Amino acid sequence: MSETAKFILDGETYEFPVTTGSENEKGIDISKLRGQSGYVTLDPGYKNTGATESAITFLDGEKGILSYRGYSIEELAEKSTFLEVAYLLIEGELPNKEQLEDFNENIRKHTLVAEDMRKFYQAFPHHAHPMGVLGSLVNSLSSFYPESQDPNRSEDAVDLTIYRLIAKVPTLAAWSHKNAQRHPVVYPKNELNYSENFLQMMFSVPSEDYKIDPVVAKALDLLFILHADHEQNCSASTVRIVGSSQANLYASISAGISALWGPLHGGANQAVIEMLENIKNDGGDVTKYLDKAKDKNDPFRLMGFGHRVYKNFDPRARIIKKACDDVLDALGIDDPVLDIAKKLEKAALEDQYFVDRKLYPNVDFYSGIIYRAIGIPTEMFTVMFAIGRLPGWIAQWKEMIETKQPIGRPRQIYTGANARNYVELSKR
Ligand code: CMC
Repeated sequence: MSETAKFILDGETYEFPVTTGSENEKGIDISKLRGQSGYVTLDPGYKNTGATESAITFLDGEKGILSYRGYSIEELAEKSTFLEVAYLLIEGELPNKEQLEDFNENIRKHTLVAEDMRKFYQAFPHHAHPMGVLGSLVNSLSSFYPESQDPNRSEDAVDLTIYRLIAKVPTLAAWSHKNAQRHPVVYPKNELNYSENFLQMMFSVPSEDYKIDPVVAKALDLLFILHADHEQNCSASTVRIVGSSQANLYASISAGISALWGPLHGGANQAVIEMLENIKNDGGDVTKYLDKAKDKNDPFRLMGFGHRVYKNFDPRARIIKKACDDVLDALGIDDPVLDIAKKLEKAALEDQYFVDRKLYPNVDFYSGIIYRAIGIPTEMFTVMFAIGRLPGWIAQWKEMIETKQPIGRPRQIYTGANARNYVELSKR
């Protein structure tokens, strides 16, 4: 007999089916709760709420496991490329050689953005945050491809939007960096691979082509893989909820970019480096900052520590920590901020406050140090996360559309004033 959960409400018993996932995760399906009982559930931050069934990414926060479509992040990080992972997430299977070549080719074809879009950059001030620029430009892609506005078009038409997005986001991102410098933009070079092409658009200048270091390109590809999806996080949920209104894919991804920007989510990578630099400039006393993080009257949090889901360790952080050492060694960089990071990590892992709350370094604790080493400016760090997360957002959106999810529309428990009479302005 299938498992059920019983709720007793006002003396009445209601039974709800239990859903079991392929990794034996259990959920109580309360979709009929309100219809039967009049009650809703209350779960701020959706800490206990499964918003959907999904076959894309599995993570077990207690055991520190992360896999995309059943393949462990450790194995993908070691053996695959970012575009292979993007294909896996979006299509559900690893591509064979021919499928991967087709996928690469389709993306290569679309790396250029309409010349008219280049003019948008001139309107943004040089100090515009590149996440704001990227979100706006991704949204405006929908006006260049109006046929994309129907999310239920033929499969080929949807695929075309997907190729355009994966191809154009690095171009738009690199151009936002060029704009910040008030330098001319660099056009894509399609003979290069995805990460190499992004690097050359970021760092080439008219007087000199950027010499691509394979160590740097590989590290970037790895970082993109590690960020590629993370199941129902804040930005993926945003993409799904915006898309559930049948808004187009560009608009949904643009909303995801906005959600990612915040320092509690993808913006943490920028915040980590700023925090580490502050600690260094303040004399390097990590204990002082640990004490601040523990003080409930101080809003300071140790950026790059803690995770909503990982309560053991973040498997991505382990891979990144090693990559960070390798990149810095290969480039011969001695970064004092890395020493502060290592000291802070060690002290936090030995501190009872962090041990009790199971707060471990997350993916963003070390990623910024790699970005810095390869010359990416701090304000661009979250943009790098967005490029990496793009296939995950697309896969989440596609699954939501294909499984015909209803519009996302949570309930609430109203706590405001009861009905009252309007008081004329002259009498207030
Ligand atoms: N520094 C100090 N205390 C912390 C921290 C931290 N970084 N993170 C959590 N805590 C404490 C928090 O004060 C609370 O303590 P208490 O139980 O005494 O009230 C307890 O740990 C649980 O925290 P929470 O805020 O209820 O946990 P959450 O699941 O709502 O928040 C988080 C998760 C990631 C927002 C949070 O850990 C945080 O703010 N971390 C710093 C920002 C960061 O690094 N974000 C990147 C996340 S990884 C990239 C991504 O995938 O987005």
